[in-house]
Amino acid sequence: MHRLRRERPDLPLVINGGFADLAQVRLQWAEGLGVMIGRAAYHRPAFIAELERALPDSDWPTPEPARVVETMVSYARAQAPRGVRLHSVTRHMHGLLAGREGARSWRRFLSDIASRPDAAPKLCFRRCPSSIRAWLPKRLKRRKPG
Ligand SMILES: Cc1cc2nc3c(=O)[nH]c(=O)nc-3n(C[C@H](O)[C@H](O)[C@H](O)COP(=O)(O)O)c2cc1C
Repeated sequence: MHRLRRERPDLPLVINGGFADLAQVRLQWAEGLGVMIGRAAYHRPAFIAELERALPDSDWPTPEPARVVETMVSYARAQAPRGVRLHSVTRHMHGLLAGREGARSWRRFLSDIASRPDAAPKLCFRRCPSSIRAWLPKRLKRRKPG
């Protein structure tokens, strides 16, 4: 790729596969290559914000997990009438707290409770264990009665 870059500076080139941290990506950017990110962004979505912030003139803030949960729950609620199960949305949220306190409890909560066939977007998050409640948006923090 690097040789091709030198031989064909006119071509847009994007390297793909195996890049998992900012330092690795910067090395490729320095060579004039774009970098496609797959698994690293999926397992730790905050990585996308890190990359964005590393671009010149970027002032994009890393969205707080509570904001992401809020948006995803709204999305799940909008999809529910179409028969989309909560699990289809939350199964892509396992990496949300990657590297943060409570990451394991969060994954367990999503696997154990949010994946139940009858799990309802709003109510389900009220059953979140207290160890991770701090990451939830205010309106979902209230405990489920009983
Ligand atoms: C969750 C996820 C979704 C992906 N979606 C696409 C896609 O829509 N189109 C595509 O060409 N590749 C897709 N890929 C493949 C990646 O672009 C990439 O080729 C592959 O994951 C290898 O790079 P990685 O080491 O960064 O994961 C996806 C990968 C992942 C993990």
